[in-house]
Amino acid sequence: MSKEETKTGRSQFVTKIGVIAATVGSAVGLGNIWRFPYEVGTHGGGAFLICYLFFIIAIGVPLLCAESAVGRRSRSNVVDAYRKLSGSNKWKPMGYLAVLTAIVILGFYCVVSGWTMEYMYQSVAGNLHYSSQPEYAAMFSKFIGSDIRPIVWTLIFLAINFRILIKGVEKGIEKMSNIMMPLLFLILIAFCINSLMMPGAQEGLKFMFTPDFSKITPAVLLSALGQAFFSLSIGMGCVLTYGSYFSDSTNLPKTAGIIAVCDTLVAILAGLMIFPAVFTFGGTPAAGPTLVFEVLPAIFNHLPLGSLWASLFFLLLFIASLTSSISMFEIGIAFFTEKFKIRRIVATSIITGITAILAVFCSLSFGSMSTFTIFGKNMFDLSDYVSSNIFMPIGGLGIAIFTGWVVNKQFLKNQLSNNGSHHFAGENLIIFSLRFLSPAAIVLIFLNSLGII
Ligand code: TRP
Repeated sequence: MSKEETKTGRSQFVTKIGVIAATVGSAVGLGNIWRFPYEVGTHGGGAFLICYLFFIIAIGVPLLCAESAVGRRSRSNVVDAYRKLSGSNKWKPMGYLAVLTAIVILGFYCVVSGWTMEYMYQSVAGNLHYSSQPEYAAMFSKFIGSDIRPIVWTLIFLAINFRILIKGVEKGIEKMSNIMMPLLFLILIAFCINSLMMPGAQEGLKFMFTPDFSKITPAVLLSALGQAFFSLSIGMGCVLTYGSYFSDSTNLPKTAGIIAVCDTLVAILAGLMIFPAVFTFGGTPAAGPTLVFEVLPAIFNHLPLGSLWASLFFLLLFIASLTSSISMFEIGIAFFTEKFKIRRIVATSIITGITAILAVFCSLSFGSMSTFTIFGKNMFDLSDYVSSNIFMPIGGLGIAIFTGWVVNKQFLKNQLSNNGSHHFAGENLIIFSLRFLSPAAIVLIFLNSLGII
């Protein structure tokens, strides 16, 4: 991050672009390209998409504003932020939950990033050439079931994160992502056009955009909510931590709007790339977490210079996942260094170590530990489910109640308008959402999907 030390000794983003690059870099990641298509695929297509878009606008944007406001006002890590603004220790558990959530997500996120690296390697080596989609699916399941290989990639990914985090070379990463992210966007558009010319395009579009309202169940609503949280990086102190590095002149609602639009566009483009191909090559949209890894190589293989496209795509996806994983590590590191006054390298080692253990279990879920299940889910699915569908909604509920009801009323107004220095028309809508709509929706969906109401 292009941060510089301020008088208070805390780093701050230097430029407006730095703010956008870091927050969009955090938001756009595997959540958009890997998780979004498989969630749409398993939850009935268009019906899921509509719920998702609704949650992004009605709950996501207000929560982005709320989190960044709390971060900027308190200028501290997630645990201290609650204490500083409320003046009591009662809210501290919310901060701890955020740190825990970050680590749980990292556990499976690093595994999927490892898969991305394997595919990057295989495309450069020119090994992604099969004649049919089932062969790609078989290749992928052989890879993730092979125990050692996916773990090695996961650990390499963790080591890269570790190195970046201790060297503080985020500046370099940010510069790189300033080029790579727009490139990812362009290449996605190109692949979408390509997919839209496939024979299965119509069926793919129909699946994605025609809502079958009978498919909207409590479970679908909860998953759409969870996906909105995951994709925007909200509900676990990530935006809060980045917000604590924002300058006083950063326009929070505008920044939130830019993040939401960029993030949603990338997800829709990913869907437009995947679903026509799924119906063309005879895959099933409901394949789950393995979906994109089974479908993408088939798309590239049908293009001239396929290996080149594949290498470029997986490289960009790897960079996108790196900027996201770094933002998640930053939550725990900011907390551990400030709380226990330990050096950055020590905090980074502790968190990377815990993540590595968790990641090994998640990775083995597809291999020798596939029969080890808790509540009917393997470790990978369980971490994914618990973080997005339980921890993050609770975190989001906490931040909505905290900003809507606990801190004084003027707080949000001041933060959204930078103490009245600019007028923001949607201010009351955002406050309404944080006070009433978001808490009510999260609680209702949550209880409903647990079968309590
Ligand atoms: N939003 C990222 C993605 O879509 C993942 C991510 C980064 C995240 N930071 C987060 C998710 C914080 C939840 C909370 O890939």
